[in-house]
Amino acid sequence: MRSSLRSNSNANFLSHMRMFSTANVSAFHYVNSDYVEQEESATPAVKTSSSAVDLQRIKLAATRRETPLSILQCLKLGESVSTKALLKNLAFLNRELPVRFARRILELSGLPNDLRETEPFQNLLRNYSLSFDELQTYSDSNRLMFLDADAQRRGDSELDGDEAMEFAIQKEYADLLQAITNRHKQDVIFMAHGISLFKRYQISRNKPCEEIQRFLNSFNRGRLGIRIMVGHHLALQHQFYHPEEPSSSAYLSMPSSAHSRRVGIIEPQCDIEALILRASQSAQFVFFHHYNTVFPPNVHIEHSKELGGKKVRFPVVPALLHHILFELLKNSLRATAEFHGLEKPSFPDIVVKLSSTSDGALNIVIKDYGGGMPSSKEEKLFNYMFTTASSTVYLDFPSIMTAVEKKPVNATMGENLPLCGFGFGLATSRLYARLFNGDLTIKSIIGNGTEATIRLARLEDQIEQLGDK
Ligand SMILES: Nc1ncnc2c1ncn2[C@@H]1O[C@H](COP(=O)(O)OP(=O)(O)O)[C@@H](O)[C@H]1O
Ligand SMILES: [Mg+2]
Repeated sequence: MRSSLRSNSNANFLSHMRMFSTANVSAFHYVNSDYVEQEESATPAVKTSSSAVDLQRIKLAATRRETPLSILQCLKLGESVSTKALLKNLAFLNRELPVRFARRILELSGLPNDLRETEPFQNLLRNYSLSFDELQTYSDSNRLMFLDADAQRRGDSELDGDEAMEFAIQKEYADLLQAITNRHKQDVIFMAHGISLFKRYQISRNKPCEEIQRFLNSFNRGRLGIRIMVGHHLALQHQFYHPEEPSSSAYLSMPSSAHSRRVGIIEPQCDIEALILRASQSAQFVFFHHYNTVFPPNVHIEHSKELGGKKVRFPVVPALLHHILFELLKNSLRATAEFHGLEKPSFPDIVVKLSSTSDGALNIVIKDYGGGMPSSKEEKLFNYMFTTASSTVYLDFPSIMTAVEKKPVNATMGENLPLCGFGFGLATSRLYARLFNGDLTIKSIIGNGTEATIRLARLEDQIEQLGDK
């Protein structure tokens, strides 16, 4: 059964394009290998960015275990949100975040010298060290002990005694979290930049490097866990104190779709088709600019029979699913156009099919007719350093940094990023899918096309998976 939802490149596409600012894309241009020369004469790498921070303090914090997040628990917290619940969560973050930052610092410190000493990785190390220091110092200041002691003194667990104090503590902690959020919004660009320098100089192109791969999986997973817990707390606090205001600037938030209810950064009843449509439009927008006004292929959404034409609603963190869909759709659009030839008046549609599984999971299958790929290529797909985008190998990182820096976090849904070239798309998408117990698999038929399947686990199984897989 064909859904009426359709991202159409012909009639509706141009009108949709007006919604986006072309300035987002014009900030980028791809440069030739001159860029590499500039990098060589750049400021020498900072030697030890963590020297200001006591290494023992970091090591001590890193010995504590990370507590895995559960989406169900995050929802429960949000559904009965109160000052007390927010303060309880604040106390949890106050314990948990220094541990998570300390672990990321140790991961960065353990990298091979050639990568760690690059300027972008020194920037990462410096930023993580600074954030750790601020969080640990706050934690050591015993600011929250006052609340605990006060509650104990009153002989109850209610924290309604000193509202002004409670509010001040929430405000100061939220300010700290927001400053940290802003500091880390370029993490992925730093990583991609550092890896591109490393790849250029240290290893032959596209050769898998297990150690770096493991690091990137573990570091990215940890980074995402931090983003989610910080984003959820800030969004819940905003929703509690300012229920009328949309929290579009809160970390990891996406403007919610009409009629959807947002609990922190989670949508318990997310309209999955609306999300697919939105990701399609963002990907088509990037395609349109990349190929210099070539109209992109259409994207069709279909339901499997058992879903019976009903609207598919599923609990997700919309920003995470958007990332995965956006990356997969960009790849499918590019493969379709390059396989059929840009001069073609129209391309075969990309079909997105939704189906439920017997264990309550939701499958989203994206099928393209972009010619597929040989198995030798399929093996490398989830390698962070693998890309076939030859014209964009030397990305203009300084321009990207400037554009990302100027935008508030998530002010756009990725329309200001390049169509391809980082080689990070599939690796990060699978990681994002696996984070809460889902998966991403890719099957390809050479000469025909590619089928990518995103599996979303049912709510009860959406528990954070820690590690480097
Ligand atoms: N649907 C697809 N059809 C054909 N090739 C694909 C498809 N998706 C990904 N690829 C190949 O995998 C490579 C890696 O993809 P990705 O990780 O998204 O990085 P990037 O898009 O930056 O190159 C692409 O460069 C392309 O060669
Ligand atoms: Mg890609």
